[in-house]
Amino acid sequence: MKSDDILSLQREILNRRIFLNPFSNDTLNFSLCEFLISLERRNALLDFDTSNYVRKCRFFLENIENIQPKVAELLKSYRDYLEVETQFTSLETKELDIDEVGIPKLIYPQTLSYIKDTCQAIGREYQDCSILELGPWMGATTNILNKNLKNNKVHVYDQFLWEDWMYSTCRDLDNPNFESFQKGQSFSEKFKTLVNPKDHVTIHECDILNHDYDYITPESVVLLIQDFTDEYESMVSIYNKLRDKLVPGKSIVVSPQFGNLNATGLIRFHAEYKSELIPLHRTRSAMRSFVFKP
Ligand SMILES: C[S@@+](CC[C@H](N)C(=O)[O-])C[C@H]1O[C@@H](n2cnc3c(N)ncnc32)[C@H](O)[C@@H]1O
Repeated sequence: MKSDDILSLQREILNRRIFLNPFSNDTLNFSLCEFLISLERRNALLDFDTSNYVRKCRFFLENIENIQPKVAELLKSYRDYLEVETQFTSLETKELDIDEVGIPKLIYPQTLSYIKDTCQAIGREYQDCSILELGPWMGATTNILNKNLKNNKVHVYDQFLWEDWMYSTCRDLDNPNFESFQKGQSFSEKFKTLVNPKDHVTIHECDILNHDYDYITPESVVLLIQDFTDEYESMVSIYNKLRDKLVPGKSIVVSPQFGNLNATGLIRFHAEYKSELIPLHRTRSAMRSFVFKP
């Protein structure tokens, strides 16, 4: 069959003009594909109120029958993910000024706005606590922490070494001047120029996974922003290193990429730690925040 024919056949089935035998494997495979595609689409649209959609997906997953154990295992992770997705409180965010969003970034402006509001609340309530940012890249988030906190110590960790993916990202962001960096070259000076860190911000140029976090001051971390990895093993390793610095019932963990379905390790991590990292907020972005409640 030619690929054009396959596409038109798919269209006919999707539009319900051709009905498949409901008990055949083809139907099952087709329904699964349809489900996964719609999940991807939902994510691309970054729908704010997903409750109806999530209900439909969960119904689909719960009622699907006769599947192989491997497929069932795969679907279980989707079911867990959708269950967590229903538990966040949706928050609208305010527009930021140009000097608050001007640094090249992967993070959504809505996430920056959420972090700004969170900083202001922290500044009022928890002056003797630290903020940790893992993986700031060019410093878009650090810029917000720099501008909106004064008395809280902010610790920022990155190896600041140029990698291949950063070229294409900068090109996509319309910042061709970054192309002068060589792979492996340090961009920490560029970061400092863009952020202009004040005294309350300490920059740690290090490998996040092999760093000694015993000397954070003050000891308790009230906000942890994690954007250096979406690998499951790295997440577990760093979380276990920092866990005893989090304050039960108070510390917020911000995960800017949780809604990105490619970040499967991140989704797996949060599914596994769902009994102590409790869903808190979502904005119109891929970001989700969690409160530490062991
Ligand atoms: C996806 S980027 C972060 C994007 C940034 N948060 C933003 O919104 O623009 C990941 C960052 O983590 C850093 N990184 C990744 N693995 C690291 C590690 N093991 N140690 C230190 N830094 C690391 C990279 O250098 C990069 O700056």
